Amino acid sequence: MALTRLKEILDDALSRIKESKTSEHIANIRNTFLSKKSELMSMFSMIGKLDPEERKNAGKEINDTKLAITEALEVKEKEISEKELEEKLMSEEIDISLPGRNFSVGGKNPFHIIKDEMTDIFLGMGFEVKDGPEVETDLYNFELLNIPKDHPARDMQDTFYIDPNTLLRTHTSPVQARTMLEKKGQPIRMICPGKTYRRDDDDATHSHQFAQIEGLVVDKNINIGHLKATLELFAKKMFGEGREIRLRSSFFPFTEPSVEVDISCINCGGKGCNMCKGTGWIEILGGGMVHPNVLKMNGYDPEEYSGFAFGIGIERVAMLRYGIDDIRKIYTNDVRFLHQFKKKI
Ligand code: PHE
Repeated sequence: MALTRLKEILDDALSRIKESKTSEHIANIRNTFLSKKSELMSMFSMIGKLDPEERKNAGKEINDTKLAITEALEVKEKEISEKELEEKLMSEEIDISLPGRNFSVGGKNPFHIIKDEMTDIFLGMGFEVKDGPEVETDLYNFELLNIPKDHPARDMQDTFYIDPNTLLRTHTSPVQARTMLEKKGQPIRMICPGKTYRRDDDDATHSHQFAQIEGLVVDKNINIGHLKATLELFAKKMFGEGREIRLRSSFFPFTEPSVEVDISCINCGGKGCNMCKGTGWIEILGGGMVHPNVLKMNGYDPEEYSGFAFGIGIERVAMLRYGIDDIRKIYTNDVRFLHQFKKKI
């Protein structure tokens, strides 16, 4: 029987293997020739029925056929899977000629552009940059600035209290007191940019949180001319060479005399327009000569030392510089707004 049939099976298997092209073909061939129910495998169970003479070789022959088919399948299978992998890689090849994906980059918030510019201007004049806490005590925010309890000037700054003695600072001026106490009688030339909090958010130019840059100079022989020259230089660098400033008399408990500083209108140059409400001037900051009580309370002898201080609203400067009509636009970070301040890289 069997030997000729075995040969036929082997030839049949080998020729099908040779023709196979996919791993699916291989699986089918393996099933047809090597599964338990296949003709070849069922031959093993027939060995017992053969005569002793035939039986001797039959086992070996069937087994050899099985091995030959198994081996041929493995070789072909490897060949096919390598080819399939290569085809897959080819079809997934990265096309380096495709344009890359666009990453959209926002712009620096105008608040930070202006804060950095303002800081740079004062650094250029030899000021150092100080920092201070936003959660302050009554002592620094008011007392050491010559605003005792029950003083009506406290009403000027509607305050967020945390407890009767702790509050969100209403201005950056407490950093004046902190710096004087730290410098212990040494000359001072500092600015402090930082956040401040007040309960006045009743129109589009005010917010319960805003930011100021505080300035403080303390030394021997400092006079109001130094204040004026410093702020004039600042105004020209910030708003253009043509700017003039004007000092108007004002009141702050921690400065004497106190001034409000106006710049000539950046829109009409002083003739009078909507922006300056016809006056030709725009108010940009408050300042004055450091009050002798403040010097004294913070460790400086007012007979020997004098100084000037000022506080500038950062958002106000940004709004003037860029013509922003609503302070909230600065805080909401709408990309349509931010993109307008994007610098070309
Ligand atoms: N702290 C004042 C305010 O917030 C501004 C100011 C600072 C005035 C320094 C005089 C000197 O209104």
